[in-house]
Amino acid sequence: MKAIVFERFGEPREVLQVRDVPMPEPTAGEVRVRMRLAPINPSDLMTVGGVYGRLPNLPATPGFEGVGVIDASSGGWLAKLRGLKPGRRVAVLNGRGGNWQEFVTLPARHVVPVPDDLRDEQVATFFVNPATAIVMTQYVLQMRRASWLLQTGAGSALGRMIIRLGKHFGFRTINLVRRKELANELMQLGADAVLSTREDKIVDRVAEITKGAMVPCALDCIGGPGVVDVIQSLAPQGRLLVYGTLSAEPTPFDTRTLMVGPRAMEGFWLSEWVKHQGTLRMLGLFRQITALMRVGVLTTPVAATYGLDQLAQAIEHVERSARGGKILLRLG
Ligand SMILES: NC(=O)c1ccc[n+]([C@@H]2O[C@H](COP(=O)([O-])OP(=O)(O)OC[C@H]3O[C@@H](n4cnc5c(N)ncnc54)[C@H](OP(=O)(O)O)[C@@H]3O)[C@@H](O)[C@H]2O)c1
Repeated sequence: MKAIVFERFGEPREVLQVRDVPMPEPTAGEVRVRMRLAPINPSDLMTVGGVYGRLPNLPATPGFEGVGVIDASSGGWLAKLRGLKPGRRVAVLNGRGGNWQEFVTLPARHVVPVPDDLRDEQVATFFVNPATAIVMTQYVLQMRRASWLLQTGAGSALGRMIIRLGKHFGFRTINLVRRKELANELMQLGADAVLSTREDKIVDRVAEITKGAMVPCALDCIGGPGVVDVIQSLAPQGRLLVYGTLSAEPTPFDTRTLMVGPRAMEGFWLSEWVKHQGTLRMLGLFRQITALMRVGVLTTPVAATYGLDQLAQAIEHVERSARGGKILLRLG
């Protein structure tokens, strides 16, 4: 079978290769999935680049999520109870990475059976962004109705989910993007305001929009110098969750800005959060994601799908600005 493999960390276009590898066999407690689609997420490329929070032993295959069909099961009675038998379509939540290949083996508890009415393109992106959007807004920040949330990188797949969650649950969003031309699109999704980090004076505009109250909560996935504006837009006791570093730039700032208020800045990483959750909470989260995906709240726009023989084009496309949606890999 074919797999995308990297032997050293580096630029994805330089280090990723398609290779023939032996078919994996499921061991006790595992299922084997014939993969159909997997997204190229920022976390996949950061892993290949060697700059992610946890790195695999090399050689390795990237891919933290995707959709496929169970092909063989050694998952035991629990897998049978969850309907995990050959032929069942599942979301593949592969926290250790490895979904970018034709077949993958993993613990049965890491696959989620999905209803037939969800399209493969949506199931391919079932967990990483939807779970992060729900957990950050509902479990960590516990956003209340009518409360303001300021977010950076609002045009991303995850940023759009946060906007739709705001509309769904009733919290209000101020959305920062680098390209002002995204404003109409995001307003149509339910954004309450869209500001451009290139054109607007962020702190002044946030003060105007919130009538001087500023925001109790903020999310940042960009990093770099712009984070200072986000901190200064926080109300007293405000909280900033940092969950990404798309700019790859450091944030030089005067720590005194946190003392005024005071305001808090903390990190969020889904894989750390998941480690501390029990089975029931995870099953509840899967049900919530399924329900919100069905009503269009947690959907992901897809820009293009590429086959394994088009890996170079896929990587080139994912690195473009204004790409307009996720890039998926077709594996089967
Ligand atoms: N901590 C966690 O557990 C967790 C979980 C899931 C995702 N994440 C993070 O969430 C973020 C979004 O992920 P995603 O899959 O939704 O991303 P995505 O759909 O690939 O979108 C990336 C977006 O970021 C924007 N962007 C990229 N570089 C930028 C820069 N230097 N300055 C301003 N904007 C920039 C792009 O803007 P243009 O449209 O202008 O090109 C695009 O809208 C990533 O940082 C990811 O690592 C974190």
